[in-house]
Amino acid sequence: MCGPDEDEAAWPQAGRERLVCPQPIAWKGTDWQDNEQEMVARLGPGTVMMMGDNPALPRMPARPTLLDFFRCRFGDVTVRHLLSSGKRALDDGHDDKVVLACLLHDIANGCLIRADHGYWGAQMIAPYVDEEVAWAVKYHQALHYTPDESVGYAYPESYKLFFGADYRLPDYIVRDAEEARRHPWYMTSRLITLYDLYFFEKYEPIDPAIFEDVIGRHFRQPEEGLGFDGSPTAHMWRTMIWPNNFL
Ligand SMILES: [Fe+2]
Ligand SMILES: [Fe+2]
Repeated sequence: MCGPDEDEAAWPQAGRERLVCPQPIAWKGTDWQDNEQEMVARLGPGTVMMMGDNPALPRMPARPTLLDFFRCRFGDVTVRHLLSSGKRALDDGHDDKVVLACLLHDIANGCLIRADHGYWGAQMIAPYVDEEVAWAVKYHQALHYTPDESVGYAYPESYKLFFGADYRLPDYIVRDAEEARRHPWYMTSRLITLYDLYFFEKYEPIDPAIFEDVIGRHFRQPEEGLGFDGSPTAHMWRTMIWPNNFL
């Protein structure tokens, strides 16, 4: 479990001012001015660049599990969205793989990156889940833009709001949606889009613990904790544990 820890001495870089430079991908193209030079000029004995646990964030356990990220790092909107998507699949009696895919489909948005979130999220979870689950997460992004009348899926009204009614899909999305449509696992990914709710819809509070059984059966939690097992994507989990690290 995570929680507040008021003891300053218990944190790394204790007693010094910790400076944070936002990650470049978060401010490129916005009004934010690059402050790296200004921050570096302020360094001295009492001032350092942030590294390691940030006292402004809940402290994570030494060996974080999947649900620790839900509780300690992911934003509220993503948590509600993922839990409700997973619960809808669970309530409808779908198999574990579908439930897990729904529960994890927007995981990249939680604390890492929004752009191409399906692709990032799939990569992040790939070492720990069945190949079909990661595949479904990857392709849900393209399938979201792609109607399928045979299963009652239309282009989302919310996307017209988000992107404008005249938004045109990039070629890679069209290509990947077509590829997904022809794939034997198509319905696993399509079901994610069918159980996807948007932020303006009503959510009931859901206890993440209801997914512990499914996670226990189908998510290979590393003994060392996510981020510390040396998997090809451990760095993505570490980046969410320490999102303010300078390097
Ligand atoms: Fe998504
Ligand atoms: Fe979603």
